[in-house]
Amino acid sequence: MIMFLDGRFVPREEARISPEDRGFLFADAIYEVVRFHRGSPYRFAEHMARLREGLDAVRIAADVSRFPEVAARLLADNGLSDADALVYFQVSRGAAPRAHHFPPAGTPATLFAFARRTDPPPSPAGGTAILLPDERWGRCDIKTVMLLPNVLAAQAARDAGAMDAILVRDGFALEGTKANLVLVSEGAVRTAPNGPRILPGVTRAAVLDAARCEGLRVEERAFTVEEMFAGEELFFASTTLWTYPVVAVDGRPIGAGRPGPVCARLAEILRAEFAGGR
Ligand code: PDD
Repeated sequence: MIMFLDGRFVPREEARISPEDRGFLFADAIYEVVRFHRGSPYRFAEHMARLREGLDAVRIAADVSRFPEVAARLLADNGLSDADALVYFQVSRGAAPRAHHFPPAGTPATLFAFARRTDPPPSPAGGTAILLPDERWGRCDIKTVMLLPNVLAAQAARDAGAMDAILVRDGFALEGTKANLVLVSEGAVRTAPNGPRILPGVTRAAVLDAARCEGLRVEERAFTVEEMFAGEELFFASTTLWTYPVVAVDGRPIGAGRPGPVCARLAEILRAEFAGGR
């Protein structure tokens, strides 16, 4: 496997990061995951815009303008030009002796990227989830690698035999550990508004575009756990899943307890856009 690290394309074994890298010591880093169909990215501009916003928000100075070209080369060098593949990009504040405040001006950021084949899609029967308190920080809109609350919640879900956890804050069911959460309620497609409590998902935006095109009512308004259980359909939305039905939460069925038509239709639209290239 060939990876990209600090301007070079190197075999995985040679991709070495300093133990003083701030991504390692402080999770002081921002990341992105972009999906490619036969070399064509899905909404790359949106991913790059979110990456730049994240870097600005945490004041990491880095030139990421090469990333589109880096992705193309990683796909080619790893035999993924004809595949459904993901490219992971990460930018940390660089390596410097450990101190909480920023390193000296001019410390180069660490730029890292790799490509891999997308996992096969999960079962068409839909997944289950558990509810957990959202223990993340107050800026979930920034795509930082500081994912320990997400990691712990994902593992708790796995331990419980569920596909994922749904994170709940102030009574609102906000997000999965690695996907936005969408409810179909009284015919409307409803999801939490962008803001500090959720990641502004690229797929979330695509779902809302597709729902509007289908003539569905769209509501960017957080829903409570009670409202979630009263809904017709619930689904995750992410780069890796497109839309994916959640058929039961904490052992209680959502709607009919099986995948619903709105989730299926929106997934179809997103896949068509992906395969068509945009
Ligand atoms: N996760 N919410 C969270 C917390 C996420 O980590 C992600 C993506 C999303 C969906 O965003 P998008 O539609 O832009 O992929 C929502 C990526 C895929 C990951 O961590 O691997």
